[in-house]
Amino acid sequence: MEYLGAHLAFKSRWVKTDEELCRHSMSFVLHKAIRNDFFESYLYLLERYPLVKLFAMTSEVIDGEMQFYARARNFYKEVPATDEGMMGDFSDLSYIDIESSREFLMKFVGGPGKAGTEFALDCGSGIGRVSKHVLLPVFNNIELVDMTESFLEEAQNYLEEEADRVETLYCYCLQDFTPATRKYDVIWMQWVSGHLTDKDLLVFLLRCKNSVKDNGVIIIKDNVARQGCVLDPIDSSVIREIHVLRNIIEKTGMSILAEERQQGFPDLCVPIWMIAVQ
Ligand SMILES: C[S@@+](CC[C@H](N)C(=O)[O-])C[C@H]1O[C@@H](n2cnc3c(N)ncnc32)[C@H](O)[C@@H]1O
Repeated sequence: MEYLGAHLAFKSRWVKTDEELCRHSMSFVLHKAIRNDFFESYLYLLERYPLVKLFAMTSEVIDGEMQFYARARNFYKEVPATDEGMMGDFSDLSYIDIESSREFLMKFVGGPGKAGTEFALDCGSGIGRVSKHVLLPVFNNIELVDMTESFLEEAQNYLEEEADRVETLYCYCLQDFTPATRKYDVIWMQWVSGHLTDKDLLVFLLRCKNSVKDNGVIIIKDNVARQGCVLDPIDSSVIREIHVLRNIIEKTGMSILAEERQQGFPDLCVPIWMIAVQ
């Protein structure tokens, strides 16, 4: 009823505005009226729906979705297809990262009621650092998806003889990619969720939900802001507070199986979390 009330209130206001103003031309007053009404409706939605608020948080920091994605594409074109490139100059920490990822992964695979070990998908794979050290030792087959062609080209050398167990390399932006239905035991997304807007991340996670088998798990590993939602202007990514990430995950109808903070990184680094979702 409340919605109907608001709807009728706006409708009657517009009828009046039409009669009084539109008869002549699109005047300054009309322009102002549209702007005010739009803003009021927007505030109303902000209060009603936490998700709208959430989208607004990211929209506020990214300065336009197209720019946000274009800047990231341009950034990665200049990044070398090496471990250093993937780790953003923290390549010394790759080993610690990999060890923790392996331990975290093993909690969810290979046992009764757990995910199988047949097939994994590495999202935002880069050259395949995670594929090589975390996924290929566990899964029979894997696939990689990344938007940067040069990284996928390099993956074929980087993975050496293990490259035979890579079924497909998909050169796609995650916001445009639909992984195959019920194909994967595990979908791994590392240091890429922040490259998607809230809306695209939510929708991509929904597609992943449809793409994992029964008992399949989606693992997100990413930087997490100490407060709010922060733009990293260098690689054009957003660093979200953990409760914002949780909120997006909840909206997919999936649950968080476990969360763990990455240990062993220097204090100057942004905290990194691993989140297993089912
Ligand atoms: C920091 S690197 C991490 C690579 C890899 N996950 C790792 O941990 O070594 C981020 C990767 O995400 C990819 N990427 C960024 N935005 C993307 C998008 N919208 N869709 C697909 N890949 C994206 C980049 O090309 C890059 O390979």
